Amino acid sequence: MFIDTHIHLDDNRYLVELDKVIKEAKQNGVSKIITMGCDYKSSVMAVEIANRYDEVYAMIGIHPSEIKKCSEEELRLDWIKELASNPRVIGIGEIGLDYYWDKTYNDLQKEIFIKQIELSKELNFPISVHSRDANQDTLDIMKVYKPKGVIHCFSGSSQMAAEFVKLGLFIGVGGVVTFKNSRVIKEVVEKIDLKWILTETDGPYLAPSPYRGTQNFPKYIPIIAEEISKIKEIDIKEVEKQVEENVNRLFNIWGEFVWEDCYASCFVCF
Ligand code: NI
Repeated sequence: MFIDTHIHLDDNRYLVELDKVIKEAKQNGVSKIITMGCDYKSSVMAVEIANRYDEVYAMIGIHPSEIKKCSEEELRLDWIKELASNPRVIGIGEIGLDYYWDKTYNDLQKEIFIKQIELSKELNFPISVHSRDANQDTLDIMKVYKPKGVIHCFSGSSQMAAEFVKLGLFIGVGGVVTFKNSRVIKEVVEKIDLKWILTETDGPYLAPSPYRGTQNFPKYIPIIAEEISKIKEIDIKEVEKQVEENVNRLFNIWGEFVWEDCYASCFVCF
């Protein structure tokens, strides 16, 4: 099974044809999709969509670029705990730092990011991290708080990727890896062990070649997996299988429960 670990299905471009989007994803072997929340409203929407489709799970949170538009009450984040009790919610995202668009409130971005990381630890959830022009600050925060999660749509050097992996964080790889001139992310994929790579679209943005510049869809995940397999010189099936294992490892919800493993490792139930 292929998995899209990061998409924005609450975008209007998907909402108008959601049945078709999910159906086409499944026809192309993409049977699990994780949709993000970027503020309260889109998080509620993400949960609603996840409730409607077996294939879809939700992550909830406040995106760094949405912080300025949020009310004080929204920034208190009480709603995250409430929404998190829904069984379709499997993590906190999309959260992080973005110094590309607006550098005037970096401190507030850090404060809200850290608050959400602390919540994720309290809820035992992984996080999906947005880091744009902010990798060093993101890394410093990860070193202090040590959350589990993924640096989504990774844009940094292979050395930086290795630093995140050292902390047990996964590297999200999307359509950019298929672009001819994307030397840096290709090098990241080459150098990082497949055990730490997740596939994602970040749709509706960043469609892979040959669809670059058009709307992205979860059905394109096999194109990204194929590019990863070419760079690593392995079969695409290996990429498909390992990414599924990685997702199970991080989210711990789709792995098969083995009674003996449980018995061997803990005695709580007995
Ligand atoms: Ni995103």
